[in-house]
Amino acid sequence: MFDPYEIRKDFPIFQRKIGDKPLVYFDNAATTHRPIQVIEAMNNFYLKHNANVHRGLHTLSQEASEMYEEAHETIAKFIGAKSWYEVIFTHNTTDSINLLAYSWGLFNVCEGDEIVLTVMEHHSNMLPWRNLAKIKKAKVKYVDITDDGVLKYEQLEELITERTRVVAVTLMSNVLGTINDVRRIAKIAHQVGAIIVVDGAQGVPHMPVNVREWDIDFLAFSGHKMLGPMGTGVLWGREDRLEEMVPFRVGGDTIKDVTLDDVIWHDLPWRFEAGTPNVAGAVGLAEAAEYLMKIGMQNIRQHEKQLTMEIMKRLDEIDKVEYYGPKNIEIRGGIVPFNIKGLHHHTVARALDMFGIAVRSGMHCAHPLHYRLGLKGTVRASLYIYNTKEEIEYFAEALTTITKLSAALSRKEEDVCTGG
Ligand SMILES: Cc1ncc(COP(=O)(O)O)c(C=O)c1O
Repeated sequence: MFDPYEIRKDFPIFQRKIGDKPLVYFDNAATTHRPIQVIEAMNNFYLKHNANVHRGLHTLSQEASEMYEEAHETIAKFIGAKSWYEVIFTHNTTDSINLLAYSWGLFNVCEGDEIVLTVMEHHSNMLPWRNLAKIKKAKVKYVDITDDGVLKYEQLEELITERTRVVAVTLMSNVLGTINDVRRIAKIAHQVGAIIVVDGAQGVPHMPVNVREWDIDFLAFSGHKMLGPMGTGVLWGREDRLEEMVPFRVGGDTIKDVTLDDVIWHDLPWRFEAGTPNVAGAVGLAEAAEYLMKIGMQNIRQHEKQLTMEIMKRLDEIDKVEYYGPKNIEIRGGIVPFNIKGLHHHTVARALDMFGIAVRSGMHCAHPLHYRLGLKGTVRASLYIYNTKEEIEYFAEALTTITKLSAALSRKEEDVCTGG
């Protein structure tokens, strides 16, 4: 039985207050909080097992190596990968996509080839591909969205041609909450022999993922957005695709042997994990994945659907508030961007903070999407497993108060202007 109130007990952060108000944390798209289980798993590593991996024959090093390898296995299970050796640990989604763009892209994209992106991409799934395109003299094409933020699939089909080598798309928009049909996009990409790269930073923490069923080639995501430690991320790749990659960051741990003239690269995934890894981070991330799997990703998705419908309903009731993104909950995750007419998005975020409510405001590393929507910025509420219906009620009350204050404020301004 899914119970957010029980779940909250695992999160020490909810004991603290913002001023005299309980913390209402609606900034989960930026980063989530960590349950005590994750914090303890990392502490346990440092307190009892700390050693470098793969190098030592002593007990601690062997324990650390085992824990690190098991973390790969847990992540493989979490995303339905064929094997743990398809899982590469990185620092975050941005790092994963950069690694891919250079390790795969430099060697598989040629002059005149095409890279297809969407206008809703986070800069992290846009700029690495644009840099690659510049280096290789390839062309970047963008798939547009409808006015309510749904990908134009027909246009996507038209844009993908025999010259397309990469289709890179987000699983869930970090601004609009739109969930893209990556299975459908994978089919279209594969028809012309292109790879599909999925930016799972927002999707993976919130829904069941099965990379094999989806038939995608690469998936990138961040540990810190799924209850795991900061500085942890994953690049998953299908084995045959990973074999097409050439190590980009090289040095210690990436090799089997080196002579002055030659190098034999290590097996997967080690050849892509250069230098000393974040072992405690990997252990914490695996614990986070276990925690989520125990709750059940389908239950998490269901909970967030209910909360998102509730938040949209409450926003509909408040005068002067407009929000963006698809209304259809089947293709929308728990991210709701909005504005209050007449108020700057940062003003609204700051005002909400006075109620103890944490939201994000700005362009959310998706400037081209905001320009496409004709917006200078948005306030973004983003939800997770520990959020509750009561918090949404409180949030709606706070917003109502803020809109009333804004009305009073503008009336006062009018009085001043017409008073003379
Ligand atoms: C869709 C999407 N992609 C990529 C990123 C980048 O994630 P990170 O900063 O963990 O690399 C984010 C972060 O907000 C995101 O929302």
